[in-house]
Amino acid sequence: MNDCSRFLVLTTIILLYYCFSFSFALDVSYDEKALTIDGERKIIISGSIHYPRSTPEMWPSLIKKAKEGGLNAIETYVFWNAHEPIYRQYDFSENLDLVRFIRAIHDEGLYAILRIGPYVCAEWNYGGFPVWLHNIPGIAFRTNNEVYENEMKNFTTLIVDMVRDEGLFASKGGPIILAQIENEYGNVMWSYGNEGKSYINWCADLAQSFHIGVPWIMCQQSNPPQGMINTCNGWYCDGFHPSSGIPKMWTENWSGWYKGWGQKTPHRTAEDLAFAVARFFQYGGMLQNYYMYHGGTNFGRVSGGPYIATTYDYDAPLDEYGNLNQPKWGHLKQLHLLIRSMEDILTHAVIRNVEYGNMMTVSFIIMTIEPKKLIPLKVQTAGHGLHAFVNGKHVRSQWAKGGRYEFDFESKIKMKNGTNLISLLSVTVGLENYGDHFDEIKNGIHGPVKLMGDNNQVKDLQNSTWTYKVGIHGIDKKKLYMRENRYNRKWELENLPTDRMFVWYQTTFMAPMGDDPVVLDLLGLGKGIAWVNGHNIGRYWPSFFADDNGCDYKCDYRGTYSNSKCLSGCNQSSQRWYHVPRSFLQDDDNLLVLFEEFGGNPANLKIQTVTVGTICANAYEGNKLELSCQGGTISEIKFASYGNPRGSCGSFERGTCESPNTTTIIENACVGKESCVIDASEFTFPNNCKLVGQRLAVEAIC
Ligand code: GAL
Repeated sequence: MNDCSRFLVLTTIILLYYCFSFSFALDVSYDEKALTIDGERKIIISGSIHYPRSTPEMWPSLIKKAKEGGLNAIETYVFWNAHEPIYRQYDFSENLDLVRFIRAIHDEGLYAILRIGPYVCAEWNYGGFPVWLHNIPGIAFRTNNEVYENEMKNFTTLIVDMVRDEGLFASKGGPIILAQIENEYGNVMWSYGNEGKSYINWCADLAQSFHIGVPWIMCQQSNPPQGMINTCNGWYCDGFHPSSGIPKMWTENWSGWYKGWGQKTPHRTAEDLAFAVARFFQYGGMLQNYYMYHGGTNFGRVSGGPYIATTYDYDAPLDEYGNLNQPKWGHLKQLHLLIRSMEDILTHAVIRNVEYGNMMTVSFIIMTIEPKKLIPLKVQTAGHGLHAFVNGKHVRSQWAKGGRYEFDFESKIKMKNGTNLISLLSVTVGLENYGDHFDEIKNGIHGPVKLMGDNNQVKDLQNSTWTYKVGIHGIDKKKLYMRENRYNRKWELENLPTDRMFVWYQTTFMAPMGDDPVVLDLLGLGKGIAWVNGHNIGRYWPSFFADDNGCDYKCDYRGTYSNSKCLSGCNQSSQRWYHVPRSFLQDDDNLLVLFEEFGGNPANLKIQTVTVGTICANAYEGNKLELSCQGGTISEIKFASYGNPRGSCGSFERGTCESPNTTTIIENACVGKESCVIDASEFTFPNNCKLVGQRLAVEAIC
């Protein structure tokens, strides 16, 4: 190639590059009715997927399933304490690769909504704040405080610059059409007085100073500062009225609810969720986001608190492992297709025809005293758990139960003459993440610590000399969970200790064949942390059972939903199975390490796979019913009825009339296939029922 042709090739490449990047730049704005993209009003149906709650290997398939489910956008928060765990040391690797995640959204042709916060709530440890932030002298969080604002500005600028440099804002050809600053500040602003008002104006100024070329939102912020869009969060937002000139948008439609240790499993029915969405659009809504569409897993010690479990399944349309949660996923899909097919009408007309009325912080506090024989030991603590030892011997463990996280530890102890050593091990299970001034809530032993003797004798140990240590040696110093440290220590091969506190266990196992998600069944163990090949898969606490009250086996979707409705899992371990993403595994010789805190029996531990077992679907006359075993095969139709069947998945019952051959028709169409789609119509299922609004209900086995 001569110089002249080389020059021509280069010029063409440069020209193509510019044409390419500019032709995809979008003009995102809004009017009083809707968000507009290149001047066209849009209906946005979005779903939250938090990138650190799954793995990069899972992202493409999760996003694809969201798209197939009728979504045209994905939302995520940005998690400050994950990205800056140590002051000015940043981590954007592996499942913290924000840019890779946004690119994966772009690759599927979906829009993205980036909620930067950097306060996020999200049942995430300390609401996303790094703990080092708390220790900066003169800091006050989420208010008009220069020290805090400088740190918030530093992190927010870093994220905005990173995303801008990668061309990820829609104004530069990327998928991001909206960005959020702060999170639900309006819910707590009252508590910060005028300083709070100055702060939220400062947030708006900061956001606008970035000139990102797409609008900024503030959720739950009535009377938002100039230039900010206020949006609604909640179970229902059809009654929400944004400020004048702003379209009606719903940033968090809670598709279910999160789970706490010792709690039952929440469910929000597909019917209630779908009806809430339909009503929202009927009442002029233009953007709604499922919180969560895929909840995922709280790996490591990221869960907030107190007591947020490791699973963050959320009863979302995609379950913790990324499988379709049916009938929710399919039911919503039908609705999304319908709503999006009406984009033109909805964005231009006014339609209102319905009325309706661990981090586990462990501190050792060691002290010496010279008492006579005194009982008992009393410790006031706001830590979530406490293990007490006298002269190196464990005397008692106690942990918070029933929603209160402050408790008085009490134990009878025997002391010897002379110097005695009291050691207290305080355990935190997720730092608070919500509420006004939540960052100031104290965790750990705040005292007093007293010894109570006979004849009302009291010795207050407040003023004694205490020393403390943070962390667990085997985790923080020796890193016993790492593959490379596997032989750095002598592991006992015989006489496996059971029911002993603070024991490290390790074993190796073969990865189960196939692609189905892998879980560890840890029933039989107490409480602790588990690692697979060095990856922290989260806290485990299978010994914490939910109580026996309030499970609603015949969940009635009618009426207003709240997270105390439709519970399951009474009298069962609040989390028995723990997700091990496939990408954490190698073909053979996988190393599992457990740090058992309470004592249990690892002999019963099982490595299992999750297969989609029973699938259900419902469709009303005129719609399509879709069944899918997600890679498996539909093997049997357990229930099928076209007419007026009653009940919900698992407890369908025949109604008073049905099409006689429903089961045979469904069997012919579906058995032996991975998925099938059937028209719910009298044409497919002839009958003489003469009913208005017939329904097809199917329960199948994969
Ligand atoms: C909202 C918050 C979310 C999440 C949700 C409950 O108030 O903005 O981050 O915590 O509650 O799951």
